[in-house]
Amino acid sequence: MRGGKGSGFPVRVPRVGVAAEHADCCHKMNSLRKGAVAAQRGSAVGGCGACVVLIAKHNPKTEEVTEFTASSCLTLLYNINFCSIITTEGLGNSRDGFHAVLERMSGFHASQCGFCTPGMCMSIFTSLINADKSKRPEPPKGFSKLKVSEAEKAFSGNLCRCTGYRPIVDACKSFASDVDLEDLGLNIFWKKGDRNRDVSELPSYTLGGGVCTFPDFLKAELKSSLDHLNNPYIAASREGWYHPRSIKEYYELINSSFFSDSVKVVVGNTSSGVPGYKDQDLYSKYIDIGGILELSNILRMESGFEIGAATPISRTIEILEEECESISSPNGSVVFRKLANHMSKVATPFVRNTASIGGNIVLAQKFPFPSDIATILLGAGATVCLQAVAERRQITLEEFLEQPPIDATTLLLSIFIPHWISDSGTNTSLLFETCRAAPRPLGNAVSYVNCAFLGHASVDEQSDTLVLSNMRLAFGAYGTEHAIRAKKVEEFLTGKALTALVVLGAIKLLRETVVPMEGTSHPEYRVSAAVGFLFSFLSPLSKGIQEPGKSLGSSSADSADTDDVREAVYVDDIPSPKNCLYGEFIYNTRPLAYAKSIKFKSSLASEKLISFVSAKDIPSGGQNIGSSFTFGDEPLFGYPIAEYAGQALGIVIAETQRYADMAAKQVIIEYDSEDLSPPIITVEQAVEKSSYFDVPPELYPKEVGDVSKGMAEADHKIPSTEVKLASEYYFYMETQTALAVPDEDNTLVVYSSSQYPELAQSVIARCLGIPFSNVRVITRRVGGGFGGKAFRSFQVATAAALCVYKLRRPVRMYLNRITDMVMIGGRHPVKAHYSVGFKSDGKITALHLDLLINAGISPDASPMIPGTIISSVKKYNWGALSFDIKLCKTNNSSKSVMRAPGDTQGSLIADAVIEHVASVLSVDANSVREKNFHTYDTLQLFYPDSAGETSTYTLHSIFDRAKAGPGRVSVLNDGSIVVEVGGIEIGQGLWTKVQQMTAFALGKLWPDGGESLLERVRVLQADTLNLIQATLQACNMLFDRLKPVLDRLQQQSENVSWDTLISQAMRTGYLAKFLISTLTMELVEIDLLTGAITLIRGDLVYDCGKSLNPAVDLGQSTDYSFGLDEGNII
Ligand SMILES: Cc1cc2nc3c(=O)[nH]c(=O)nc-3n(C[C@H](O)[C@H](O)[C@H](O)COP(=O)(O)OP(=O)(O)OC[C@H]3O[C@@H](n4cnc5c(N)ncnc54)[C@H](O)[C@@H]3O)c2cc1C
Ligand code: FES
Repeated sequence: MRGGKGSGFPVRVPRVGVAAEHADCCHKMNSLRKGAVAAQRGSAVGGCGACVVLIAKHNPKTEEVTEFTASSCLTLLYNINFCSIITTEGLGNSRDGFHAVLERMSGFHASQCGFCTPGMCMSIFTSLINADKSKRPEPPKGFSKLKVSEAEKAFSGNLCRCTGYRPIVDACKSFASDVDLEDLGLNIFWKKGDRNRDVSELPSYTLGGGVCTFPDFLKAELKSSLDHLNNPYIAASREGWYHPRSIKEYYELINSSFFSDSVKVVVGNTSSGVPGYKDQDLYSKYIDIGGILELSNILRMESGFEIGAATPISRTIEILEEECESISSPNGSVVFRKLANHMSKVATPFVRNTASIGGNIVLAQKFPFPSDIATILLGAGATVCLQAVAERRQITLEEFLEQPPIDATTLLLSIFIPHWISDSGTNTSLLFETCRAAPRPLGNAVSYVNCAFLGHASVDEQSDTLVLSNMRLAFGAYGTEHAIRAKKVEEFLTGKALTALVVLGAIKLLRETVVPMEGTSHPEYRVSAAVGFLFSFLSPLSKGIQEPGKSLGSSSADSADTDDVREAVYVDDIPSPKNCLYGEFIYNTRPLAYAKSIKFKSSLASEKLISFVSAKDIPSGGQNIGSSFTFGDEPLFGYPIAEYAGQALGIVIAETQRYADMAAKQVIIEYDSEDLSPPIITVEQAVEKSSYFDVPPELYPKEVGDVSKGMAEADHKIPSTEVKLASEYYFYMETQTALAVPDEDNTLVVYSSSQYPELAQSVIARCLGIPFSNVRVITRRVGGGFGGKAFRSFQVATAAALCVYKLRRPVRMYLNRITDMVMIGGRHPVKAHYSVGFKSDGKITALHLDLLINAGISPDASPMIPGTIISSVKKYNWGALSFDIKLCKTNNSSKSVMRAPGDTQGSLIADAVIEHVASVLSVDANSVREKNFHTYDTLQLFYPDSAGETSTYTLHSIFDRAKAGPGRVSVLNDGSIVVEVGGIEIGQGLWTKVQQMTAFALGKLWPDGGESLLERVRVLQADTLNLIQATLQACNMLFDRLKPVLDRLQQQSENVSWDTLISQAMRTGYLAKFLISTLTMELVEIDLLTGAITLIRGDLVYDCGKSLNPAVDLGQSTDYSFGLDEGNII
């Protein structure tokens, strides 16, 4: 971002400047990141909000400026020609000062790893600007016109994986004119217990945002360019971007000789973010139809309104809401209100701002896309206006959906939504309802099934029941080619008095109508949810008459660092060096096979391929190694045999990341599995083949007591019962990434998003066969890790380094989300069988477990998992505990440490046993829990080496027990302090705490005890080479620690090698243990018809010892929200 605080930057594509490198028409707006670093790339499919920016558009005729958010990962660069863009750099910097949004995000500790923060800030800032533009009364000084209820939704769709959202909501609510400042959480602006909190203590906010969103010079340029722009062929036509202004111009274009399969017609281009509809190849030309005036018209009529197909969904929602206000009959507004409400659950605000309503319907017409909008408009009786070359036609949406898929010769011009009203003459009421069942109730989750029900109801005086007429029952997304009307059910219901029997008949008929296509996931659930929705709609009606306009049935299935906030630099933010190339993995898609040949389809994307790097490029003296830990190595490439689906086979190299990603999609791999035994996929197959990893005896957990005796004492026994846990993806916001740069004398620097740079350095050096000292690994910051950036980050860093070695040019790799999810592994799946004995009062006397842990292909850190699972199981006093654990080696991606490794699985198994015991005894599970809580004596029995004393549960003692990472503290001439840490900031607030610890330690020399020393302390990145100064001191400390281990080993054998000493010491170190107590309780509501879960309340008590920073620790309750997210805790 240029220009510092207070302005956007102009985008004039033909001389774009900020994205000059490779700025051809297929580039997404996030290529602007080269000049404006703050828009991050998380999902890269519109799914996370990390890349959200503010786009401002100016209308030269009305002089009006409109501001909205958009995801830069989906927006094509040419689509924002003559727009002004603001990223967080437009909200200030450390030199010129920061905008109140950033200051308050920082002060409320609303940022931990910081990766999502720029997108969050832009969503909040845009909401403030738009609220302040409204005609609402002036708020008190220092506040915005935003309301608390809007603040809570201001960043909806922006994902955060670290803070648990509460501090972000507080930061945003602090701007709201109706906020009660007393309600806001911990922050740096006032001390705990301060009364009379005042807005003047918060960083000041100017009404209107205080930032010019559209610079005057750009307005002038836009005005003078208007005539120029009217020519469709001039608007950037050289780069292949066509921008017709009328239907006539559009047909001239598609009838001309330039038109071919590699031309894409777009409006918002958001369909490229929808799974299953992503671009499979590059396009040479684009036709942007968003500028065709007829496609943006809004026509209001008495019978309804017509909306241009290019209208964004967010604008459509506004129009529907405006229509509700203007319609006099309260009943008549029901349809528009419900449509608006349903549409606001489609995608996220920043996708809806650019996604067009027509684009959604066309997707649903051309593909089996599970559209919400097509279904609800079908239910509302919409019609569409089509242009097919010279012919214009108005047909029903139903007819349109049933037509063969349209091609570029047909344009959807507009959609007409009729105005439905009750008939006061015949005393009929209008009924309308829409529902959706989706993995998440709001945004970013396409529906499993959606529906819309419309009809008129009148009272049959004789039977005092309701009679339905004009029924429209639309169902979609359940695994159908397109949304349909359940006509048989409609006919069945029409004219009948609505009794319970009739409802039952309708439901039976619906089961015959809603039949998911072969291969649809969760078919039974989809049918049952569809039936549940119809039942919810009809059943209240069968009991009585609804008041007009009142909701019918239920649609409940809808179902800290200051440095982080400010100018955090992630690996992908480091500007690409000159001549930088980009890599993307090609991975194996079979569980066990030889990749006989690797070729590429002939396509536009393949033409972008510059090089292909594979195992054959590993230098002699190097090794095929991509990861390593105490228990063994893992190869970088599946060569000569690829051992699991997702294993790297090579890396394609191109001039941009997008080219590399698209080129990788063109691969054709020929496999051969002759002579190979069948792959081992499941734990059962592993048991059959005795395919296990060893667990070193010192890591194998210890049994407690005598289980046979405990079983004999039991009043009841539950014999071998199964509980199974699947794997879990890491889903850090920043995917795996590395930038490798060649340096002098056969050395290289690798910027890696790694939680373990020291080990990354050794893996890279071993792969290249060069001394460790020739590799410098720098980790500035990690955009979320959750364990996945520990050992699993090495492969990307090593691959980038190998490409540098071969090509002698800098190479950057930033895995796309799918590659990351397929290749990187995740949490260990576990299959457990438990046998438990217990007394009639709920006291458990014995538990035996048989555990099969799926570790995947390599040992990674898996030999530690049996210990962590059992440690977690031991949280209850089982009387006696025994187990048999097998760590299975299978042909799957390697499973690794993930947030609370083993603990999650152990907790779930332990609580499954408790719940089972409670259900057998028909008592409350909490009473069984309480009966089996540890006393201090049993705690010592189950955890002899970590039970400790009560007083040891403090942060200080935890710090004492934990292994200290390398670090260096330098006091510079001006008294400022630089602290270099070996630990990596991954969102856990480490740097804040290091800063505070430094101020605390040196504060004893400072007059006010160190409070103002804090701002003089700067924490710096980990760098594997620049910690040498600390060597002497560190070596002395290491000697003191290693000597006892050496002495112990020498008692067994005289000659102890350095390697043995280190590996033994590492193991001892990893055994450092401490206990933390937590307790959570959730109140959830489950809709039995659809399975939708609503979390009503969650309570969490967490013993974090003596907190250095309660606000950061409060945020760290993320294990809780992380767990909720993945469904672990509930
Ligand atoms: C993260 C995310 C979540 C989503 N969640 C949902 C959801 O929950 N429910 C849901 O229903 N949808 C969802 N969507 C889909 C979204 O609504 C559509 O992607 C969007 O409406 C398409 O509009 P567009 O302008 O971006 O179309 P584009 O991507 O530009 O075009 C889509 C297709 O339609 C064609 N086309 C566009 N307009 C016309 C026209 N007027 N005439 C002829 N052809 C045309 C294009 O040529 C292209 O083939 C989601 C999308 C994303 C990215
Ligand atoms: S929304 Fe664009 S990167 Fe996530």
